[in-house]
Amino acid sequence: MVIFGPITPGQVSFLLGIIPVIVAWIYAEFLEHKKNSVPSKVRHSDVNLVELVNETIKEDDKAVLLEGGALQSASPKARTSYASSPVIRFLLMDESFLVENRLTLRAISEFGVLLAYFYLCDRTNFFNSSTKSYNRDLFLFLYFLLIIVSAMTSFKIHNEKSSFTAKSIHYLNRHQTEEWKGWMQVLFLMYHYFAAAEIYNAIRLFIAAYVWMTGFGNFSYYYVRKDFSLARFAQMMWRLNFLVLFCCVVLNNSYMLYYICPMHTLFTLMVYGALGILNKHNEIGPVMAVKIISCFLVVILVWEIPGVFELLWSPFTFLFGYRDPDPKKSHLPLLHEWHFRSGLDRYIWIIGMIYAYYHPTVERWMEKLEEAELKRRISIKTAVTLISLTVGYLWFEYIYKLDKITYNKYHPYTSWIPITVYICLRNVTQQFRNCSITLFAWLGKITLETYISQIHIWLRSGVPDGQPKLLLSLIPQYPLMNFMLTTSIYIAISYRLFELTNTLKIAFVPGKDDKRLVYNIVVAVAISCVLYSLAFVFLNIPQMLLAFGHYICIGKRGKGELLMDVTSN
Ligand SMILES: *[C@@H]1O[C@H](CO)[C@@H](O)[C@H](O)[C@H]1NC(C)=O
Ligand SMILES: *[C@@H]1O[C@H](CO)[C@@H](O)[C@H](O)[C@H]1NC(C)=O
Repeated sequence: MVIFGPITPGQVSFLLGIIPVIVAWIYAEFLEHKKNSVPSKVRHSDVNLVELVNETIKEDDKAVLLEGGALQSASPKARTSYASSPVIRFLLMDESFLVENRLTLRAISEFGVLLAYFYLCDRTNFFNSSTKSYNRDLFLFLYFLLIIVSAMTSFKIHNEKSSFTAKSIHYLNRHQTEEWKGWMQVLFLMYHYFAAAEIYNAIRLFIAAYVWMTGFGNFSYYYVRKDFSLARFAQMMWRLNFLVLFCCVVLNNSYMLYYICPMHTLFTLMVYGALGILNKHNEIGPVMAVKIISCFLVVILVWEIPGVFELLWSPFTFLFGYRDPDPKKSHLPLLHEWHFRSGLDRYIWIIGMIYAYYHPTVERWMEKLEEAELKRRISIKTAVTLISLTVGYLWFEYIYKLDKITYNKYHPYTSWIPITVYICLRNVTQQFRNCSITLFAWLGKITLETYISQIHIWLRSGVPDGQPKLLLSLIPQYPLMNFMLTTSIYIAISYRLFELTNTLKIAFVPGKDDKRLVYNIVVAVAISCVLYSLAFVFLNIPQMLLAFGHYICIGKRGKGELLMDVTSN
């Protein structure tokens, strides 16, 4: 098995951290099993076992100590005294502690195993890879087949009368929004899988629609709930960045390879900031207007005035920098990718906020319309439909059809047009509004996970930071069978990752206890630092020994490059 790319300290520290957790989890399962099968005389034998296990894992003690700290939140009572802190209890393989936290340990272990699968698929030649090929007929066939099948099996009419209560409005909205995300996501993924370059412009539009939803959803949330607490903030960051962070470490990738994540994080933060500052006065109309105008001004300042973007972001190049290993693109400045991606959708989140602000008004207005007399209702609806269709057609004819470079220039200023058209058409009648295709809504929930995992276990990038130009091939020579198999595994894993992200969020990001949250963050940082240093030393030991043996200094060469085989494609 050949490993592509160097082995990094990050990867080694991940391994150092995850192995003790897996050991602890297996032990916890064992304890649990024993507790259930022999309820009475457990005590005695267990003590011996604890010692035994302690012996065997002595070497990993430090790593255990560190990882264990992360288990803090699961056992609140253990916090007060140092001796009974979860870190220590984990280190001592305290059995009640392990049993208590068995499910968390299991979730971490499963997460680790899934990431190992990512690595196996994308960074080794254990599986084959194949090349992409595009056939419009096949592409459309698959997509429409999916629509027909899911419409037949999972079409659902939501019967809750769209009334004024906020709850039902949100309920309806969620289904619709998720369905919308879902069908766009399917096209987005298929675009990558089949390299369907001809729908490039549509994909740009879908991403704009996601960013629109970020503005819309987050605005509604913060405007109504007014929850700007640290805990809520941490949960949001966890949701957006937990998986991607570990992918970056395990696969040695830049954050910017998964550009959707930094982009949504940025715009989520902007919405958070816009509403959070002086949030007591959000109800006052003029204050809101000033806030929205300031958002536009900030965007204009940063993105439209040359030089400001580079100036502002250059201190963060370590985070947002990206260099494509493809020689054709590697001459671009490090911040180019970030500038390009964030620039494309720089305005649409503000549009989303504005729509969210007026949403209740429009909703009320629509209610009135539904109660109006038939003739009036029909004529207004027909007018809306006709106007939308005309505008949509004009946009399609004059903007969408442009070549991709020109289109990208107009995109930031025009993407709101088709989005608005879609929203109008989608809501034009009550029946339309109330129905959704559940399968797409289901897929819409896991868009983040499907987006991240596709690069590694469905497509294949091969080298660190590489764009996924190949396909993972589990059944060579049978492209369609392979498509089916890899897709099933990929969707199943994405769904598991979605659930695991949530399980671990509940375990580590307490909703109410800010002190514990801060404690957890500090411990997590400490653990990472120690693990990283250990891994660094560990990787450099061979070199140090060599240098020592030969009485020469090797210098900077070969930091951990155990095996290098950079593919050139
Ligand atoms: C805020 O936006 C992010 C990114 O799109 C999303 O994941 C999250 O669910 C949104 N939050 C709310 C409350 O809608
Ligand atoms: C119309 O539909 C979209 C999604 O399909 C939804 O996000 C939006 O909130 C709806 N608008 C109204 C006014 O209900």
